[in-house]
Amino acid sequence: MPDRIGLLGFGSYTPSRVMTNEDWSALINTTDEWILSRTGIRERHFAADDESTVDLAAHAAEKALADAGMTADDVDEIIVASDTPEVYTPDTAAYLQHRLGAREITAYDLGGSGCAGFVLALDIAKTRVQAAAKRILVVGVELISRLMDWNDRSTCVLFGDAAGAVVVGRGDQVRAELLAASAGTDGSAADILTLETGGTRRPFTLAEAQKGGQHDIVMNGREVFRHAVHRMCEAAEKVLAQAGRMKDEIALLIPHQANLRIIEAVRSRMGLSEQQVYVNVDRYGNTGSATVPLALDEARQEGRIKPGDLVVLTAFGAGFHWAGAALQF
Ligand code: ACO
Repeated sequence: MPDRIGLLGFGSYTPSRVMTNEDWSALINTTDEWILSRTGIRERHFAADDESTVDLAAHAAEKALADAGMTADDVDEIIVASDTPEVYTPDTAAYLQHRLGAREITAYDLGGSGCAGFVLALDIAKTRVQAAAKRILVVGVELISRLMDWNDRSTCVLFGDAAGAVVVGRGDQVRAELLAASAGTDGSAADILTLETGGTRRPFTLAEAQKGGQHDIVMNGREVFRHAVHRMCEAAEKVLAQAGRMKDEIALLIPHQANLRIIEAVRSRMGLSEQQVYVNVDRYGNTGSATVPLALDEARQEGRIKPGDLVVLTAFGAGFHWAGAALQF
């Protein structure tokens, strides 16, 4: 079936340093009980001091390429989804192209789409492959621990660092057909979840730094929660409809992993069983754009995905942006 467009290889990387809820409660005024009951998170991984975003991205990318039986030479395009880039400019994709030793190909970041970035990138990759028969490396990566405020207990305990990657292409080698992908935006909600510093509205100047709070993620948790549930259900249902499939055909839903209560609310609203929904937020926390490809890779390795399975990805993040994808393994 030469016209099938989909995923050729999978990879992920989590740094070795584990930060437990107990570790957080030794640093700030929080408890394991609060974090676990409000979020479902037990621990998360943080990058080592000598690791940066491109290091995490390269580890995941190399695994995805090896899994696809490819080398960097075979890649025709690179998309990196990240809100925590290597530097302000150029983008992380430039560093990754060089690090991997890829050819002088098109490479670009999808920045600022929050936790929806990777699934949004799949939507774009699908159309790029349709247009030009390319093999596209798609990476979701975040090194949030270095950009968050370690004293803000309402946000810092939620996040972790990770990277995940896939290769999108077409032809006989496709292991999961990308049946449908879709994304949406509601910019009227931009101020509900934002990190302003560094842009033109609030440049990173000495005067701003002296005011403090330079790295503050501003978030209305309850509003984010409400929108996340609604939009992740909407995105999943939309790609199911596009693929002409029904909810009860879903073998595994892989939702963005921000909070167990959000995932449970999505599961309940969609009428799915616990077995139909993948959860690893307890071990990694919210790893932003890395969350979905990390979960996808892990679910495969754990044998939770079998040939013939319909897998639906759904994600939501700052913007607000949301995106969904339906995969036929
Ligand atoms: N430890 C102990 N107490 C805390 C902590 C903490 N780490 N953080 C906040 N609290 C306190 C608050 O100060 C507040 O105290 P108060 O009542 O005396 O003022 C109390 O706990 C309750 O706070 P709420 O905000 O009402 O708690 P809630 O049950 O809404 O849970 C949470 C907060 C976990 C942030 C939740 O709203 C949530 O998960 N929202 C989604 C946000 C999210 O996932 N953001 C990630 C980025 S976006 C995305 O990925 C989808």
